[in-house]
Amino acid sequence: MAIGLPQNGPKGREAIGLHKKRELDMMIRTVLAVTIVAVGVTAAVAQSVIADRKALMKRSGDQAKVAASMVRGETPFDLAKAKGVFETYVDKANKLPTLFPENSKTGGETHAAPAIWEKPDEFKAQVAKFGADAKAALDQTKDLDSFKAANANMLKDCGGCHETFRLKM
Ligand code: HEC
Repeated sequence: MAIGLPQNGPKGREAIGLHKKRELDMMIRTVLAVTIVAVGVTAAVAQSVIADRKALMKRSGDQAKVAASMVRGETPFDLAKAKGVFETYVDKANKLPTLFPENSKTGGETHAAPAIWEKPDEFKAQVAKFGADAKAALDQTKDLDSFKAANANMLKDCGGCHETFRLKM
């Protein structure tokens, strides 16, 4: 064996033992370091996904206010703006399915309810219904009256999902 270590006598064995132990220590340290980095990255991803879905929801809240203002006649009806509200909802419905990974149940001051992960099929169905209704609302909206009806229907979807899948805020 040409590993450059003394082979014979108790001293030799000791030296090899020490060498092996150091190698093992380093391996353990490397594995630990890699694990710690991986855990850190996972936590960071979970935090950013929570921030993403909250931002997406906030944008819906803002759009719902734009809609309410037109419905109440506080701002004049604007077809492009009205359709813009529902376009935002369609976009959101497309994004929601990836924004609730298993590792994002807690943290980031989330108000996501455990039901999302306990009843995943029901949650998926809610998101799908929301997306389908948003597309229908987009098609249906031609004037203030049709906008009002479509908007009222969408608000039911918001509330319906929040009731089961969002914690009290
Ligand atoms: C499929 C379910 C679902 C639908 C549909 C839905 N939401 Fe939400 N919403 C949630 C969940 C879950 C949260 C909590 C997210 C979190 O805190 O991680 C939330 C949070 C919010 C928040 C709080 C965001 C914040 O700042 O923390 C607002 C505002 C909101 N939703 C508005 C709406 C509006 C308006 C609609 C309809 C146009 C809507 N949502 C439709 C599930 C839904």
